[in-house]
Amino acid sequence: METFRFRFLRALFVFALASSSVFASDPSPLQDFCVAINDPNDAVFVNGKFCKDPKLATADDFFFSGLNICKNTTNPVGSTVTPVNVVQIPGLNTLGISLVRIDYAPNGGLNPPHTHPRATEILVVMEGTLYVGFITSNPDNRLITKVLNQGDVFVFPVGLVHFQFNVGKCNAVAIAAMSSQNPGVIALANAVFGSNPSINPDVLSKAFKLDRNMAKNLQSNF
Ligand SMILES: *[C@@H]1O[C@H](CO)[C@@H](O)[C@H](O)[C@H]1NC(C)=O
Repeated sequence: METFRFRFLRALFVFALASSSVFASDPSPLQDFCVAINDPNDAVFVNGKFCKDPKLATADDFFFSGLNICKNTTNPVGSTVTPVNVVQIPGLNTLGISLVRIDYAPNGGLNPPHTHPRATEILVVMEGTLYVGFITSNPDNRLITKVLNQGDVFVFPVGLVHFQFNVGKCNAVAIAAMSSQNPGVIALANAVFGSNPSINPDVLSKAFKLDRNMAKNLQSNF
């Protein structure tokens, strides 16, 4: 019978190991799977989650249903992202992969410029026509774009700013896979103009070459 103290020290040790190296993507699993749980009793801490006792794992730990469902895109940007990551499927813990479904409204539904700090994305268009692109890092900031139709696939490399825009007259739908169980999202406009608390408008005015009132105005839109 392990004492609590031993379990705690072991958890601490595993955590220290996991955080001592820096990975460009999720670390490779050291076991078949590590179904994430919230209760730390009888568990070790790996990759930010406690693992369920493998003997107690069930099919539902690896299951999600509903990615066929069309989502409502009536919102200011005209798109809705449905995530399927370690939050929805605890069995994805430590496996370095996840999915999203993205619905785009007709005539201009936009998944606005954003980055995933921890994942490369590979997207397949299930329905509709999307103008997509990403921008390379400094100093080139080269825009790489393509118009995609049903069945087309495009890659957004890890960390780079990218977007998708529905240029068709019908709904568009895409499914994208990500090379992380928890890719993270930074929506540029929301992060910069909608931070909490707000950034000093002088910073935004200078950074974006904007009149100070214009900067404040943009902030008030978020
Ligand atoms: C979609 O969302 C909008 C805004 O929240 C709402 O007004 C509308 O009723 C929704 N449509 C459907 C079909 O649920």
